[in-house]
Formats: sequence, C-alpha cells, structure tokens
Amino acid sequence: MNTSWHLYSWRERQAAQQPAWHDLEQHATVIDELKQQPPLVFAGEVRQLKDHLAQVARGNAFLLQAGDCAEEFRQSHAKIIKEKLKIILQMAIVLTYGGLKPVVKVGRIAGQYAKPRSKSTEIIDGQELMTFRGDCVNSLEPTVQGRLPDSNRLLRAYHQSASTLNLLRAFTHGGFADLSRVHSWNLDFVKNGPLVHKYEAVAEAIYQTLEFMRACGLDSSKFPQLHQVDLYTSHEGLLLDYESALTRVDSLTQDWYNCSAHMLWIGDRTRQIDGAHLEYFRGVRNPIGLKVGPTCDADELTRLIEILNPQNEPGRLVLITRFGAGKINDHLPALVQRVKDMGSEVVWSCDPMHGNTFLSSSGYKTRHFDQIIQEIRQFFAVHRSEGTVAGGIHLELTGDHVTECMGGTEEIKDEELPYRYSTACDPRLNAKQSLEIAFQVSEVLRDHRNGA
Ligand code: PEP
Ligand code: CO
Repeated sequence: MNTSWHLYSWRERQAAQQPAWHDLEQHATVIDELKQQPPLVFAGEVRQLKDHLAQVARGNAFLLQAGDCAEEFRQSHAKIIKEKLKIILQMAIVLTYGGLKPVVKVGRIAGQYAKPRSKSTEIIDGQELMTFRGDCVNSLEPTVQGRLPDSNRLLRAYHQSASTLNLLRAFTHGGFADLSRVHSWNLDFVKNGPLVHKYEAVAEAIYQTLEFMRACGLDSSKFPQLHQVDLYTSHEGLLLDYESALTRVDSLTQDWYNCSAHMLWIGDRTRQIDGAHLEYFRGVRNPIGLKVGPTCDADELTRLIEILNPQNEPGRLVLITRFGAGKINDHLPALVQRVKDMGSEVVWSCDPMHGNTFLSSSGYKTRHFDQIIQEIRQFFAVHRSEGTVAGGIHLELTGDHVTECMGGTEEIKDEELPYRYSTACDPRLNAKQSLEIAFQVSEVLRDHRNGA
C-alpha cells in the first residue's frame, strides 16, 4: 500500500456506494460550505474514547454500540432522542450491574444518515426507482423526484447531527443521567411486565447503594462518574466527500481526525482492500469499526488489520462481526485464531442484526429475537473457547414501541409486524426487546465473571 496518505488520496481509488449526485456544481458548493463548519466532536474526546476501547480490548470494560439503522430527519424531535438515550442508559446499567465493569456507550446517533444498498434500483408499484440511500442523500418517498440524490441534504444532515449532539450533551451532562435518577429512565410504555420488575429491582439496588454511600458521608456530587455519562457518537463512514469535509488537523497533536463523529465504521460493502474507504480511514486517528461478514476470510482480515492498525494501537480497531446465527460458528473461530496469532489488540464486537435479516411471510424485512440472542451467545462461546475477549455488542434499536423484529417477551408474530413498522431501513429491536437482550447478556457476563 502506498504510504503517502493525504486527505484526498482516497480519490485515486475506487469508492463503492457513492451516490450519483444530481447537480455537481451544487455538490461542490455544499462540500465547500461543510468545510467551513465547526467540528461536531473534538480530538480530545476521540482520544478518550480510544482509551476506553483499549480497556475493552483488554477485557476491563464492555462496549455497547446501539441506535437506529438509519436516522431520519423527521425523527429528530427531543422526545425521540431522549427515548433512544433512555434505552441505551437502561441497557448500560443492566450490563454494568451484571458484568461489574464499565460499559462504554457509543450511539449509532447524531450522523447515521447514509446507507449502503445491495441494489441501486427497486420496483415500487410497477415503477423502477433509485433505492433510498439515507436521508442525507435522497428521500424515502417513492417518487422519481424524491429519490434523486440531493447534496443539500448533506448540509441538513450536518445541522441535524449538531442539534442531536447538543441535546445529547445536555442530557448526559446536565443532570438527567445522574445515577440517582435510574428509576426515571424507564420508558413510558415499558411500565409493566416481568422485564420491568427486573429492571426496577436493579434500579432499586443501585438507589439503595447510593443512599448507603451518602449515609457514610460520601458526597456523590464529587464523583462525575455518578451524575453524568459519556455517550459517544458513531455512524458508518460511507460518503467520503462528507467525511473528508469534516476531517481536521488537531492543533495539539497535528494529527488528522474525523470530527463528524467520535467513532466511524467501514461497512461490509465498502471494505475493499484497495478501495477508497480503506485509504481514507487509514489516515485518520479515530477509533474505526470494521464490519466483518461471511465473505471475509482470515487472509483478507490480516491485510485489513495491517492497513488500518499498522502500529497495533489498542482501541483503534473494533472488529464488528455479523455472520448470522447459522454461520457464526463456521466463520468466527478461524478469524479469532488468526488475530490471536498476529498478536493484534482489537476489540471484538458482535452485530447480531445484519446476518439475521429475512423477509417475513407477509413481506416485511424482519429479524427474529431468538436468532439475535443465539448469535450473541455463540459469539461469547467462541471467545470463551479461544481465550479471547468478547468485547461488546452492536445493535439496531429504538426507544419506540415498534413491531419490526419478531419474538421477545411480547412474542411479536409475523402478522403483528404491520402494527408499528416504521423503520426507514432495517428492522430495529424495540425498547422491551433491547432491555431483554441487556438482561441476557448481563447474565452471560456474570457467569463469565464467576467462571461458570
Ligand atoms: C449497518 O450497520 O446498518 C449495515 C449496513 O451493516 P453492514 O455493513 O454490516 O451490512
Ligand atoms: Co442496518
């Protein structure tokens, strides 16, 4: 690989999944405007996340990365953002309680607007239309005009990311995330049922512990860990014009950082060894996620790691595996063994969503809770037998009461999917299903801690 990286060296490579922008002059103007915008995140925060991820790689912390498949402009109300935050906080509490180690929280949020697609067109009502590529590219509206890639949407995505992040910063550092409010993170519609009682029991135990500490004279206001949380942002780094426009040199270290999110990941469709995405990402210092699906073998993974993390810096690379419950056992062990042999310090994270998608008999794109949990359990089991660290989970979820994935405690059935199916792209776990995953994973972490 050519070592002379510069901000636009990726342009000398093939960039997969870039939209055919409708008006190139307008596109250039938009990109120039983005280059003038303030960074959304700061290099110091990015380095902090990298340090936390280094702890995950060593088994001293657990990674929870979660949020929408595709954020939508029309869904950026304060209430919806708050509900997403609440479910992530609830899950993190349950995982911390079970695993007794810090949970590093990374949202698929404040910038997750671009989608790679397997097909460039689709037929809707007999008409061939360009596929939806995320709100920062075109509209979900099934019309020829709506589906035209429009660069102005990139500016809107930037501004929506900024306002989402602003609200998240206020919630996470302004009192709402105070541990003493652990009861209040319960979502309105998750108010009864066995899951809620389980959550209430954890919340009550935490509350009592805080009261006990207060009685002992420990003032919780002196410990920022108890009254604020760090929620880092992430999205798929798909649109390289946008990502480059928000890439800046850090004044402290003189290194390049992508300042559109703390962490970015490379999708399973854009990880070509000689492709533009690899070239761009090898030059920025952020933690990078790499989606690893069934088409990636051990030799290819070796090359990818050598390119993305040549210094073997812990916390730099998160391998997000997404095979499917039926395939993980055939693929993961060889990859884990290779990475172990390389002595490479990576975070292994399990995305149990993208390998488990199917069409329901009523024609809805869905996933079954049982397969999702099965892939997670297999992921833990493989790492257990290889003696490596199962570092985290990567989920598509929402705080809403949607019916997009089947199964779970409410046993959502095929015929119930249409009730509240509102995703712009892939099916998401609803809040109850997400909380249930958190409880099951926390039990696995607890068993692991106890050597079971
Ligand atoms: C995604 O995370 O939404 C996605 C498209 O994943 P993958 O690249 O693993 O298919
Ligand atoms: Co998805």
